[in-house]
Amino acid sequence: MQKDNIAEEIKSRCNIVDVVGRVVPLKKTGANHKGICPFHNEKTPSFVVSEDKQIYTCFGCGAAGDVIQFVEQYYSLDFRGAMEKLADEYGIPIRDHFQKDARQEQYLEINREAATFFYKNLWREDNAAYRYMIGRGISPETMKKFGIGYAEPQWDSLLKHFEKLGIEPQLLVDLGLVSQSKGKYFDKYRNRVIFPILNTRGKIIGFGGRAIGEDNPKYLNSSESSVFMKKNNLYGLSLTRSEITKEGSAILVEGYMDVIALYQGGVRNCCASLGTALTENQARLLKRYTNTVYLSYDGDQAGQNAALRGMDILYREGLQVKVLQMEGAKDPDEFIKKRGRDAFLRLMKDALPFMEYKLQVLKSAHDLISTEGRIRFLKEAAVLLRQLSPVEIDAYISKLGEDTGIAPSAIRLEVFQKDESREPARHRASPEEEIESPASRMDMGERCILKLILRNGSFLERIGEEELALMSGETVKLLSRIRESYRGEEVISLEPLRESLEEQDFALIEDILEKTPVTGSDDDFFQDCINSLQQRQWSEMEKDLIDRLSLADEEENYDKIQEITQELMDLQKLKNRDRR
Ligand code: GTP
Ligand code: MN
Repeated sequence: MQKDNIAEEIKSRCNIVDVVGRVVPLKKTGANHKGICPFHNEKTPSFVVSEDKQIYTCFGCGAAGDVIQFVEQYYSLDFRGAMEKLADEYGIPIRDHFQKDARQEQYLEINREAATFFYKNLWREDNAAYRYMIGRGISPETMKKFGIGYAEPQWDSLLKHFEKLGIEPQLLVDLGLVSQSKGKYFDKYRNRVIFPILNTRGKIIGFGGRAIGEDNPKYLNSSESSVFMKKNNLYGLSLTRSEITKEGSAILVEGYMDVIALYQGGVRNCCASLGTALTENQARLLKRYTNTVYLSYDGDQAGQNAALRGMDILYREGLQVKVLQMEGAKDPDEFIKKRGRDAFLRLMKDALPFMEYKLQVLKSAHDLISTEGRIRFLKEAAVLLRQLSPVEIDAYISKLGEDTGIAPSAIRLEVFQKDESREPARHRASPEEEIESPASRMDMGERCILKLILRNGSFLERIGEEELALMSGETVKLLSRIRESYRGEEVISLEPLRESLEEQDFALIEDILEKTPVTGSDDDFFQDCINSLQQRQWSEMEKDLIDRLSLADEEENYDKIQEITQELMDLQKLKNRDRR
């Protein structure tokens, strides 16, 4: 593709040692150059630049990449911005390649002109928008910072302005600045405060217009177009991304005014989704600048729902998500004006990790005094926990156990149980599925463990959280039932089990007793079985890591490759040591 050619061209013409060397003092050591890493605090240099390979790697913080990625990371630019900067400095012509279409540039130019027009309106003479913003506690300085403007009440002031410049009204319609009805054109934004929306390259891609007073709708936003795609942008980010990188976190809010008020109040690492539900692309955009996102949505039901949806999207993109809980204010705007910056920073300090927040919401919807209430709560909590990694799940399981007084092992069972296994048999789609019974699928190691336990109940004591974590949901479930009916006898009696187990589960137990060969002295054999389960888990993890490695190719993944390789080596060491 063309774009890749340009990237290759830039990489071949911009020596990484020069580019990095301009901002990081480098010393030649052998084949490489070394310096103090600009991406984390350190005293001894662990930042290495390879002239041969044209890459950099920091062995302290894991930052790594090629010359373009360095420029992206160091100057907080996106891929294209970084290429433009380098091309500019090295005199590499790329404009033509990027100009997908001259029309696009013209649209952006028109938006810039419109923003200037609205901005000038706001500062020309006393007007309703200025008074409105002052009334909401926004200083003239802040208004300037955000390029706030004023659309006058007339139906044609923007239209006339562009007419004078010789711009066809249809272009303004395309951008959603002008509307058309019965062959007549008229300004879309009238008597509104104008919020220009910039992308991270600093281009004005659209506008939000707030009614001054009670007009409906409260906000008018630019319509979607080739230049304005809500799903790819966040309000305020062009101004705040460097603060976000600096602070190491972003505060995601709902409204334009929330961003502006927080920024003015000294909390500058914030941005807003553009009046729609958060999208994957917006999450990825944030991920370029930080790994941690604080959600600070409105306190009402709508805000809470939006927050709940947003969290999953952010989490799925690999971001750490925390949720702010405000009291005594409906949104961040009101909160910071009432209580100030320090109070807001305290909210951040007390923010809940998103799963904790979700569990809290769930808890408040259930009556935890009654047994049924607790069961329903745990069943729903189990569904939530399934999206987490095993380690995370574990942390929450103990907590839930404390909260409800229900055994963590039972909660674990609920979490790891596959959804289909809870469907009653009669809902099974076809008889073929019945034939593929759990008995034939169950791992031999697990079958042996079950057999040993059935023959000698005291083995139950040797099954703790760690051992359970190695087993399938099916085995965990059986073990928990066995434990419930176990009364301390040596050989576990089958009759109570027959009653407490579903028919097919009991059939499985019988099958295991009948067909599973158990050899060797029981004690050692038990440990061998556990070890084999451990090996199985490690092999699965190994396969997973190898899969990830095979995916982590190309430019932007050096750091990941390193990390994964290290993990893989550690794991393989562990596997081999344990095997001996
Ligand atoms: P105010 O404080 O009331 O000025 O607004 P806000 O910025 O706090 O926004 P609010 O929390 O009411 O809504 C969040 C965001 O949703 C706004 O910033 C807009 O992007 C969007 N929004 C709100 N109301 C409307 C509307 O009537 N139409 C459209 N298209 N978007 C809206
Ligand atoms: Mn508000």
